[in-house]
Amino acid sequence: MNKINFETLESRVYSPYSNKNSVCVVQSDKENCFPGVLVENISYPLTITSIQSALFSCIANSEKPSKVIISDTYKKEALFDWWVSYYDIEVIVDSNFEFIPVDLYEIHDDQVSILSRLKDLCETAKVENSDFPVSCLIQTPNGYIPGVNVELKSWELGLCAERVAISRSIAYGELLGEVIHIYAPKSDYVSPCGACRQVLFEHAEHSTTRLFQNEHEYMDVTVDQLLPYHFKSDSLKK
Ligand code: THU
Repeated sequence: MNKINFETLESRVYSPYSNKNSVCVVQSDKENCFPGVLVENISYPLTITSIQSALFSCIANSEKPSKVIISDTYKKEALFDWWVSYYDIEVIVDSNFEFIPVDLYEIHDDQVSILSRLKDLCETAKVENSDFPVSCLIQTPNGYIPGVNVELKSWELGLCAERVAISRSIAYGELLGEVIHIYAPKSDYVSPCGACRQVLFEHAEHSTTRLFQNEHEYMDVTVDQLLPYHFKSDSLKK
């Protein structure tokens, strides 16, 4: 992967409703870099801030966030100071920051390899409240994007595995490919929640979700099938 800068990251922001351009980079204690961009949703409350996306990508990789790098034009997003203090990270302002994002996963395109990676990923889920790990792997043209659910003491500030992976794909500038794999070992029936369906619909309307019911069975359901009466309105776009 090539080095990228804030200008490149800003071109990946998804904000057709506000036209804001918030981006940041979270660096882990291993000095790996996790980009984050603002990802809005037509249902505004489902919007994911760039700092939440970057932090959760880092955590989903089992790494500890240590710094957030922003440019001098960054306008503080909601809860920015709160995230900084919750994870006790340093804020660096460096408009010329360039970095290579941490690698995506390379996985053989067979079900055994994918399921095995989904299982490993569940170990990194942060599920201190629910003890209910969920993992997601989004196939993209350049590799697989991982996501796990991340919970905080404040339940409402966590994110589902699917949305961690989707926001990461967008920050990586990746097109969401054909199949989005989802696994939840403790469920008796895996299926994305309503909020994730609305977010999936906005970014991957033509993708298929592969819902692993157990080690041997999966169900393929298109995103369109998952949310037939999705929320939409052309009048909300700027
Ligand atoms: N969860 C997901 O990760 N994906 C879903 O589609 C449904 C729920 C997570 C969120 C939370 O960490 C835990 O499952 C219990 O709600």
